[in-house]
Amino acid sequence: MRVVLLGPPGAGKGTQAHRLADRFGLALISTGDIFRANLRDRTALGMEAKGYMDAGDLVPDDVVVRMVLARLSEPDAEPGFVLDGFPRTLGQAWSLEDALAEAGGPLDAVLKFTIPDDVAVHRLLGRFTCPSCQRTYNVESNPPRTAGVCDVCGGRLMHRDDDAEATVRHRIEVYHRDTEPLERLYDERGLLHPVEAVGDVDDVTERAVEAMKAGAAPA
Ligand code: AP5
Repeated sequence: MRVVLLGPPGAGKGTQAHRLADRFGLALISTGDIFRANLRDRTALGMEAKGYMDAGDLVPDDVVVRMVLARLSEPDAEPGFVLDGFPRTLGQAWSLEDALAEAGGPLDAVLKFTIPDDVAVHRLLGRFTCPSCQRTYNVESNPPRTAGVCDVCGGRLMHRDDDAEATVRHRIEVYHRDTEPLERLYDERGLLHPVEAVGDVDDVTERAVEAMKAGAAPA
């Protein structure tokens, strides 16, 4: 199964991407996580992305597309994948479509997580992230068992630099301007499945699972 997760910052894409990839045995490919791992390791890619990420802007298409297509060609992505955070522009969407058409395995579903902007902002201001395994937590809705420590790998939890309120609001504006047009494209392709993202995390997962099953069912 080949699935894209769409939705503004704070919609819960990362949270759900881990759960859906585990549930369906799919490769999890998160462009934000790949960039953050490169930043942590101070690679050329990380240094190139840093200024854009700090400002809450999108990294240029050519850089992101090259990175994602290389990742998609790895063996674990062959049976299927969950793409979190890509594509984010029409240019990226067309590049992905071309690459998948060439490989003979088009997308099965695009899940669009819907959430009011103010709820997304509130979530991100209370988010903590594990820099080692990339799991996310929330002071209100999903606190770790031990304050400041990742339940999964024991890493020290951090507040992301781009989760400052002004940057969060800018990232949401960028989403509305550059990424929302993808909804129409995927709707026209018959791939778009809206998923209500407000509510208990487990309930959101079940709605997303149903959407994935609907996407995978023969037309
Ligand atoms: P990226 O890391 O992809 O960030 P994002 O899209 O802004 O998404 P977030 O990670 O902020 O939110 P999320 O939807 O994953 O929410 P989460 O599950 O964490 O990208 C970062 C940057 O990298 C970009 O700004 C850009 O610079 C660059 N980049 C990445 N991809 C790119 C691309 N394709 N092109 C160009 N540039 C790119 O949840 C948020 C919080 O809510 C957490 O605290 C969580 O615990 C909590 N939560 C989750 N679900 C619920 C729930 N149901 N109820 C209550 N709380 C919940």
